Amino acid sequence: MNFRSDNESPAATEIMAAIARANEGFVHSYGADPITARLDELFGDLFETEVTVLPVISGTAANALSLSLICPPYGMVFCHQHAHVNNDECSAPEFFTGGAKLRPLQGPGAKFTANALREAIEMTGAHGDHEPLPAAVSVTQSTELGAVYRPEEIAAITEVARAAGMATHMDGARFGNAIATLGCAPADVTWRAGIDVLSFGATKNGALAAEAVVLFRPQAEAGRRRSRAGHLLSKMRFLSAQLEAYIADGLWLRLAAAANRQAARLADGLEGVPGATVQRPVEANEVFAILPPAVIDGLEGRGIHLHRWPGVANQVRLVCAYCTRDEDVDAVISAARDAAQT
Ligand SMILES: Cc1ncc(COP(=O)(O)O)c(C=O)c1O
Repeated sequence: MNFRSDNESPAATEIMAAIARANEGFVHSYGADPITARLDELFGDLFETEVTVLPVISGTAANALSLSLICPPYGMVFCHQHAHVNNDECSAPEFFTGGAKLRPLQGPGAKFTANALREAIEMTGAHGDHEPLPAAVSVTQSTELGAVYRPEEIAAITEVARAAGMATHMDGARFGNAIATLGCAPADVTWRAGIDVLSFGATKNGALAAEAVVLFRPQAEAGRRRSRAGHLLSKMRFLSAQLEAYIADGLWLRLAAAANRQAARLADGLEGVPGATVQRPVEANEVFAILPPAVIDGLEGRGIHLHRWPGVANQVRLVCAYCTRDEDVDAVISAARDAAQT
């Protein structure tokens, strides 16, 4: 049973069916196919504004490419200390931007506030050309610790960024999980809240491998940068087919809501396990908990895969996927209860 990561889940049948449907005859390559041609309009409808959509194959590519579009080589990107762009992308953002500096901020739940950003910006500027230029801000939605920014929190952050002449990026590797929780329009927490570019994730929530860079302002060089990054796929139709199926008929939100629901059940159940503490309100599909060592060992011993989170003693992360079942969650809770008693 797997609660280690939503990355370890299978692709959804709807996505596989869409790939199979796209596998029909010859079509033009490198994004000149009919499915890719529809994406700007489909995502435009979803976001209630004109957008440019660039499909890529990984979240890292989406983030690094996005940041390269809004931050020059001599720029600085403000992000959270726990941000994936900061810790887990092997300096792809620095590489794609041509050397920009990431400036980490603090805050609980891997969220930072508009005030934290303002204070960090105020710390800059004393060294003139010796220091990088504050150029961009990146927020993760939902965050690496499973928290969700409210639209007004994003709007406050982007207002500070805008006042300082900076552009804004959202890492939406788990954007669906955030929207399923917020229940708002995708626009409300992105461009209407001041976001310029979104990494729209699909892979963790049922796609095989597909993410989209969604530009809320046109960027002339975006296509060439993607090509230079090696993400202008010759058989782009298969990427685009995943994205089309993912947003069609609200599939992405149904899948995300299912994952979130199981995470909430899991958190509730773990709260009742002696010695266990769920660390923060579960707002998306990830549960962080401190568990007695015997419980962690007991879960693993019963074949339940989880992530021992580095840096905090006895902390684990359990991630629910769109296909996590009631009985999977029930099995974890009863295994944890058993292990706590032995
Ligand atoms: C918040 C966040 N952003 C981006 C990524 C990057 O996705 P990928 O592994 O597809 O590069 C991940 C992957 O775990 C993630 O958790």
